[in-house]
Amino acid sequence: MKIEIAPSILSADFARLADALALLETSGADVVHVDVMDGHFVPNLTIGPPVLAALARATRLPLDCHLMIEDAERWIGDYARAGAGRLTVHVEACPHLHRTLQQIKGHGIGAGVALNPATPPESLSEILPLLDFVLVMSVEPGFPGQSFIPGSLRKVERVASMIAAAGSSTRIQVDGGIGTANAAAVVRAGARSLVAGNAIFGAPDPASALAALRAVAEAPAGGGA
Ligand code: DX5
Ligand code: ZN
Repeated sequence: MKIEIAPSILSADFARLADALALLETSGADVVHVDVMDGHFVPNLTIGPPVLAALARATRLPLDCHLMIEDAERWIGDYARAGAGRLTVHVEACPHLHRTLQQIKGHGIGAGVALNPATPPESLSEILPLLDFVLVMSVEPGFPGQSFIPGSLRKVERVASMIAAAGSSTRIQVDGGIGTANAAAVVRAGARSLVAGNAIFGAPDPASALAALRAVAEAPAGGGA
């Protein structure tokens, strides 16, 4: 089964982002996961629309933008115009989620909603048909290199059940602490897109690490932990 591999450039060298993008293109990444943090919703600050626009100019890969920001509605247009191929907002940061999703879709790009580890899947029940993606956070958002929260597997299964019951084509993305040790289990639980930062850019050979992650994720028997 084809699984989308979405390397997070949060773990790349920020002084050499063009090199990271080139490496991801030649290594067969499906999309580039861009972690946008505002220092308010999460205790870290990363990149904004001008850098996203520079990334978009430097790669043909779609930019999968994970917005960990407050007041997301105010910024959707800027990120869409900067070249985002997909925008994912956090349910915890968007009080008017239906409107926010309509806004994203109005730009003709994919729309996703992310759930923090403590947020139940049921919070998405009313808007599931609008979603291209549900992003299940398997760590608290803010930093790369954290350990996968084991209870996330059950949560992915619950989201998958909700999607099946709704007859929706929404796909599940999982983000945080993903690597070869848990990728098969995450896919078996229902994930179809895997974000990986440290497992790829923290490896001595990122291209080989990406290939190894894909091999485990797409193994027909779904072996592994
Ligand atoms: C965490 C970010 C993740 C993170 C993943 O807030 O949303 O995308 O960069 O990094 P790893 O794979 O190292 O957990
Ligand atoms: Zn992310």
